[in-house]
Amino acid sequence: MEDLSVVILAAGQGTRMKSSVPKVLHRIAGRPMIHWVLDAAEGMSPDQIVVVVGHGGQEVAKEVSGRASVVWQAEQKGTGHAVLTAKDAVGTSCRDVLILCGDTPLLEAPLLQELVKRHRASSNHLSFYSFTLDEPARYGRVVRSSGGSVERIAEYKDLSPSEREIREVNSGVYTARLPFLWELLEEVRDDNAAGEIYLTDIVAGARRKGLKVEAFVAPNAHPFLGVNDRTELAAVEAVARQKILRKLGLSGVTVVDPASTYVDYGVSVGPDTVIHPFSFLRGHTVIGAGCCIGPGTDIADSTVEDGATIRFSVVESSRIGPMVAVGPFSHIRPGTVLETGARVGNFAEVKNSRVGAGSKIPHHSYVGDATVGERVNLGAGTVIVNFDGKEKHHTVIGDRAFIGCNSNLVAPLTIGKGAYVAAGSTITEDVPEDSLAIARERQVVKEGWVKRRNR
Ligand code: UD1
Ligand code: CA
Repeated sequence: MEDLSVVILAAGQGTRMKSSVPKVLHRIAGRPMIHWVLDAAEGMSPDQIVVVVGHGGQEVAKEVSGRASVVWQAEQKGTGHAVLTAKDAVGTSCRDVLILCGDTPLLEAPLLQELVKRHRASSNHLSFYSFTLDEPARYGRVVRSSGGSVERIAEYKDLSPSEREIREVNSGVYTARLPFLWELLEEVRDDNAAGEIYLTDIVAGARRKGLKVEAFVAPNAHPFLGVNDRTELAAVEAVARQKILRKLGLSGVTVVDPASTYVDYGVSVGPDTVIHPFSFLRGHTVIGAGCCIGPGTDIADSTVEDGATIRFSVVESSRIGPMVAVGPFSHIRPGTVLETGARVGNFAEVKNSRVGAGSKIPHHSYVGDATVGERVNLGAGTVIVNFDGKEKHHTVIGDRAFIGCNSNLVAPLTIGKGAYVAAGSTITEDVPEDSLAIARERQVVKEGWVKRRNR
């Protein structure tokens, strides 16, 4: 949109969050809140985006750098004061300013565009969205005259008992024409219960000056839900989560139970993948097509390729190849690559290892710092002893090697291609290709021993 600047207010302390983290950096679906608002702002293609920072400003400024310019509100004297802080940065060249709050992360560009369009079509000086709530909580109330025109916005702390009953609330999304916005703001005083310079007072100010003010009642409250405390954070998170899951559904992913499925912003999932209940897909995760994820699975910062199955397992910073099966009950730790068709788990842990195509680690194993070839079989209870108490060491297991159950492979170690290790061995020396290594006591049978003892 031409001739438009966006100002995002993000300097407040967020007192009710009771947090050492600035409010706008709390995460919604894995991503700091402020980025969601910036998405909506960028979607407008405005001339510029200015973020007002203050409380925790260094961190907020760092987070938004490259997406918006920043102005500092050194002392947080209220939302009106915050907008005034942006006056010089906004300049005088644009027609309108769109004002958003950094704590309303569900806003979307089309809705904002609609506001600016209607504002301009009606030649308003000031326009804002309102919506209705059965329980209007601490939102500012829209006070209208008997004729229905907007008179002012009454803030929660200043509400009279009758104003408390008003269900039409201020969304915190405004667009105002320049230079009127600055003139109105200069006149706002802090003579209210909070002792703050309320942005919302420009509504009454505009009415006094005979300027054109209009509140557009939005049909749905969801896009405007604000985060002021942890309960609201959870409510907004729930809406964001369902939006993400709905999009996945539309792109051909089956989400069996949206109520118990958690997918972060930015995670991609291919078509015909089925996500079963109690599953989490987090961070920079990419899931291919035709996969089966869950139930009960937590995947973070990982790539899962087509046709893989991961059940009741945890996967972190790893690559799971095509047609791989993991679980139930396995832990794939950072730095692991499982090649095509490999199988890991029940009850296995793999860390910083490469496991070749078609290899199996089916039961109760630990594999750490190893390079395992193709079509290798690690018997139940195989443990790679990678740590000597001071350092980690590497193990190489060649293609087609067969490791008997309950073996310890003490690193550093190389097991040659096609070699066998007898069950119960503790292997401390390299095993050449195609050889059998046995490292255990030979069995002794003492016939009749029990009877003799009992006598
Ligand atoms: C504000 C509105 C209220 C509206 C609600 C919608 C005011 C006075 N009230 O209330 O009418 O219903 O939003 O969500 O505007 N901020 C600053 N500097 C400050 C104070 C606040 O940048 O000095 C920022 C905050 O970081 C926040 C935003 O402004 O992102 C809104 O402030 P907040 O204190 O959350 O206002 P609400 O009480 O929610
Ligand atoms: Ca708020």
